[in-house]
Amino acid sequence: MAIFMPQLVIEPMKAEDIPQIMEIERMCFVTPWHESSFHAGLNHQPACYLVAHIDERVVGYGGMWVIMDEAHITTLAVHPAYRRQHIGERLLLGLLEVAIARRARRATLEVRASNTAAQRLYAKYGFYAVAIRKGYYADTGEDAVIMWTPDMQTPEYQLLLRANRWKLLRAEPETPDDGASISR
Ligand SMILES: CC(C)(COP(=O)(O)OP(=O)(O)OC[C@H]1O[C@@H](n2cnc3c(N)ncnc32)[C@H](O)[C@@H]1OP(=O)(O)O)[C@@H](O)C(=O)NCCC(=O)NCCS
Repeated sequence: MAIFMPQLVIEPMKAEDIPQIMEIERMCFVTPWHESSFHAGLNHQPACYLVAHIDERVVGYGGMWVIMDEAHITTLAVHPAYRRQHIGERLLLGLLEVAIARRARRATLEVRASNTAAQRLYAKYGFYAVAIRKGYYADTGEDAVIMWTPDMQTPEYQLLLRANRWKLLRAEPETPDDGASISR
């Protein structure tokens, strides 16, 4: 019996992706962004938003701003029904590859202190905690962990990306979990 494996495609965000992005945004974050934030990222040079599609369906997205030699990852989310299939990882890898191509040396982000799933993903790509911003999230008062990568232009970092890319190529899809909604 033939097994149909839907194809995951990661590509730059288009305006027509935004309604589906907003559905995921509302499922994933206690304080969702307004859709104007995504529209603002379209055709705006410092920004880069990537979207993961399976067939025509948006299953995840990630965004960043690259200014000078720094990349700031601003958002990353995967539809709860599609988690633990390395979609978030592929989006993060895609963003980091764009950042490196745009000559960024380091990437940074903020993540909720309780969001260990995201922190583990970021740690896989060399992000490490450099500071805690107390009460950073206004909706719950939760602390933010500020994470940075080491210099991404070094051979050591390129090796890390190559190794992770290789593992992704070999990875088999796993059974999706239910994925509880969490705060950004
Ligand atoms: C964080 C998020 C984007 C991860 O997406 P995902 O596609 O489910 O994650 P992946 O399958 O790519 O996981 C890659 C790695 O991240 C880590 N990870 C992801 N989810 C995890 C979980 N629930 N528990 C532990 N580790 C986890 C693991 O190290 C994993 O690698 P492994 O499978 O080889 O062990 C997703 O959980 C999500 O959308 N969460 C809600 C929104 C959010 O928190 N965004 C981040 C804001 S800073």
